[in-house]
Amino acid sequence: MFSLQFSETHEMIRDTARQFAQDEIAPTAIERDKNGEFPYEITKKLGELGFLGMMVSPEWGGSGLDALSYVIAMEEISAVDASCGVIMSVNNSLVCWGLETYATDAQKDKWLRPLASGQVHGAFCLSEPEAGSDATSQHTTATKVDGGWLLNGTKNWITNGQTASTYLVMAQTNRELKHKGITCFIVPRTAEGFEPGIKEDKLGIRSSDTCSIGLTNVFVPDDQVLGGEGVGFKIAMESLNGGRIGIAAQALGIAKAGSELATKYATERKAFGKPIADLQAIQMKIADMATRVEAARYMVYRAAWMKDQHMNYIKAAAQAKLLASTTAVHVALEAIQVHGGYGYVREYIVERLLRDAKITEIYEGTSEIQHIVIARELLKEL
Ligand code: CAA
Repeated sequence: MFSLQFSETHEMIRDTARQFAQDEIAPTAIERDKNGEFPYEITKKLGELGFLGMMVSPEWGGSGLDALSYVIAMEEISAVDASCGVIMSVNNSLVCWGLETYATDAQKDKWLRPLASGQVHGAFCLSEPEAGSDATSQHTTATKVDGGWLLNGTKNWITNGQTASTYLVMAQTNRELKHKGITCFIVPRTAEGFEPGIKEDKLGIRSSDTCSIGLTNVFVPDDQVLGGEGVGFKIAMESLNGGRIGIAAQALGIAKAGSELATKYATERKAFGKPIADLQAIQMKIADMATRVEAARYMVYRAAWMKDQHMNYIKAAAQAKLLASTTAVHVALEAIQVHGGYGYVREYIVERLLRDAKITEIYEGTSEIQHIVIARELLKEL
């Protein structure tokens, strides 16, 4: 039975993440969002704090922490800047997890260690121009040649696309086998024919780096196949199960920030001769936002706890992401409403929360895909 108990380590991680976010991330968040600037220094410092390889064993350069620690840190970092949250989430959940679970020791030594210790960060390349929700429909091909593979195709919406040093790339090695013919390749940024495109000009999480990747006859040696031929889709789906907990925690952080900022503002802003927090219409919003945030937090922490207990967490992760992302969008809208006109301008942060929140309903599986995943798991239980 799920019981939410925080250890001293969990409390320490929350304090560390909160302090770091306030001191190092908050001062540049508005400008980075405005200019779409990647937070190089912050990413380096997140690595030094051990936040880029939180769940990886110390043997491979990670922090050896549990998934609960990871969501606590994600919540605090994302509450201040969701762009930093997604950089962290992709490296932890979609890159390091797959490498730690499926790589050989030699591959871990070469590729995982620098990623988990935060010397560099990585990217996960599954989506394509015609393969988003329909992820089994991969068009990127890998053709066998002497000593390795030649990769050709285009990957889309790649988080950390321009700035990563190591990429996990899914490609079709045997089309007849459909998703069982998809293989995962470890590709360095420096590979010839590997070309990140122009940074996308996004609605939200503007400080994070998203681009497409062109692959033209990219040679990948045999020893950079992850988990064996045909195992790529399994790696991708399993990585996304954990990834969805990370994005749920990112959404939770955004929602928490919205609720807290709106509540504080309501005590400061006066109308009709008193703080607007004294008005019932505003109290309804304050109560509703806080209640939804608590509910989302429970679901997110529960999914992480289930992962830590080695239980099947597929449904819990999808439910957490579905609820937390919907909550983030709703709370951000309500936070703007409480701020009135001030909520509509950059200076007051809450408009960024809304722009950042929206993507949590889209990436790592849209809300519609989460419904499919949840329903399938429920029907399996019958
Ligand atoms: N966990 C583990 N395995 C899973 C799984 C899950 N959540 N979902 C599906 N699978 C397995 C199935 O068991 C099946 O395996 P077997 O053939 O061995 O039984 C295989 O995957 C294919 O599954 P389906 O037959 O159900 O395939 P489908 O095409 O009907 O549906 C899908 C698959 C669930 C819709 C899947 O395509 C999906 O999850 N789509 C969403 C993709 C996604 O989340 N993309 C995010 C991009 S990455 C990103 O956003 C990162 C970023 O940069 C922030």
